[in-house]
Amino acid sequence: MTEAPKHLIDWKSWEDGEIRELLALARRVKRRRWEFQGHMQGRTLVMVFQKTSTRTRVSFEAGMTELGGHAINLDWRASNFTLSDIRSETRYLSRNSAFIMARLKSHSDLLDMAAGATVPVINGCCNLYHPCQTLADMLTIAEDRGDPDGARLTYIGAYNNVVNSLVSISAALGVELTLVCPVRDETLVDEESRARLLGLGLLTETLDAKAAVADADYVYTDTWIDMEYFNDPAFAEEKERRYALMLPYQLNAELLAGSGARVMHDMPMHLGYEITEDLAESERSIIYDQAENRLDAQKAILLKLV
Ligand code: CP
Repeated sequence: MTEAPKHLIDWKSWEDGEIRELLALARRVKRRRWEFQGHMQGRTLVMVFQKTSTRTRVSFEAGMTELGGHAINLDWRASNFTLSDIRSETRYLSRNSAFIMARLKSHSDLLDMAAGATVPVINGCCNLYHPCQTLADMLTIAEDRGDPDGARLTYIGAYNNVVNSLVSISAALGVELTLVCPVRDETLVDEESRARLLGLGLLTETLDAKAAVADADYVYTDTWIDMEYFNDPAFAEEKERRYALMLPYQLNAELLAGSGARVMHDMPMHLGYEITEDLAESERSIIYDQAENRLDAQKAILLKLV
C-alpha cells in the first residue's frame, strides 16, 4: 500500500518541531537562494484557484520558476472541476504533478481534494485557514528580531482564516498573541487551536485596542470583509455594518501613538478602512517585507513536501 502524502491544510496538524525546522529552512532559502536553484527541476506544481489572488499566485509561480520547476495556473471556472467531483479531478491532477496548491472557498472541499490526492496538497487559503501566509508572517518576525519565540503580536480585525492559522503557528513558535476581534463568527473559530494557545498562556483576547498595542512588538491587521464577499451585492448591508463597527479599530497613527510596534498586514489592503495609507507607508511598516516573504516561505514548504 502507498503511504498517504503529507499535506499542508493548517499548522495544527504539523508537529511543533517540524514547523520550527521549516521556518529555519525558509530563512536559509532566503539567505542562500542560489543554493536551491534546480531543486524542483522536472517537477510541476498545479495551482487551483476558486478565488482571486495576487501574492499567492505570483509567489508560488515565481518560487517554482526560481527552484527550476514549473507551475500551472488552473482557474477553477475554466476547468472541469465545475462539471465533475473534486476527488476524481484531483486524482487525475496527481498523475501529472508533484504538488497541488489550492485556494478553495470551502474547507470541506479542500479536505475532499486532499483525500483524492496522491501528491501533497497545500492550502492556499480556505474559509478556515491561511497557513502559507502565517509562515511568511513568522519569517518576517524572525528576520526582524531573530526568533519569533516571545514576540508580542497583536492582531486587530475580524476573527478570520488568518487568525486561525496565526493561533496554531503561535503555539508552535512561542509567540504571545493578543486578539482584538470585534467581528467574530463562532462557526469559523478553530476552538481546538485556540484552547491550545490559551493553555500555553500565550493567548489574550480583549476589545481594548489601545491597551493591546501599548506593549506590542507587532500590530497586524487584515481586511474586515473576506475577499469573496467584497464586491457581492448580497453582502453590502453586512459590509456597511462591519465598517461602522470596525472603524474605531482602524490601525492609524493615533491608535499607535506611544507604541513602538511594527505594523503588519497580509495584503490586499483597503486603505482608509482597516489601515491608513500613511501608516502603511510609514517607517514602522514591514508590510512589503511580509508580502515578499511569501516567496521564500512557500519555497520552503515545497522543498519540505517534495
Ligand atoms: N495575502 C494573500 O494571500 O494575498 P493574495 O490574496 O493576493 O494571494
